[in-house]
Amino acid sequence: MSSERKYKVQPAGPLMKEHRVIEKMVSLLENERKTLEKSDVDVCFLKIAVDFFRFYADHCHHGKEEDILFSRLENKEISKEHQEIMEELFADHKKGRKLTKELDQLADKAKEAGTKDRVVNILDELVSLYRQHIQKEDQQFFLPVMDYFDNVEKDAMIDKFFDFDKDLIHKRYSNIVSELEEEKNGEK
Ligand SMILES: [Fe+2]
Ligand SMILES: [Fe+2]
Repeated sequence: MSSERKYKVQPAGPLMKEHRVIEKMVSLLENERKTLEKSDVDVCFLKIAVDFFRFYADHCHHGKEEDILFSRLENKEISKEHQEIMEELFADHKKGRKLTKELDQLADKAKEAGTKDRVVNILDELVSLYRQHIQKEDQQFFLPVMDYFDNVEKDAMIDKFFDFDKDLIHKRYSNIVSELEEEKNGEK
């Protein structure tokens, strides 16, 4: 006998909602890349973009995917096709982290020769990576893999997503304060 659902949505719902926010940022990156054809690197924009991809897209969004959804799927007997897609998704996350780190490093040397061309390449790569990644999750993965979970498991997963988000903001600012303490106390 299957129990009543506590939530009306599938666990994929909150993740897909976050995709819509990431897509907006990806469009901003695409516009920035076009702007770079006739203007200098906007360091402030790049730093905000790095923070977004590091904190929101990676820690908050990929964090929930990897630590909650994917880790629960690893305990299920999933099809070979879903297993292969999940491995690709993990690899995409890793590539996103690497590109974001490179963008951060480039923003720190925006005035150096050759930096602008490299920024253009990284922006192109990030736009194409995130577009294909989100399309793969939305259209080939998230909804079909919901069938591996019963109602109790689905509700528990959404509860975990909420707990994950709730902790994140506290961890972020506690880390920022610790880093600042280290930096400022080290100067004394
Ligand atoms: Fe993902
Ligand atoms: Fe995603």
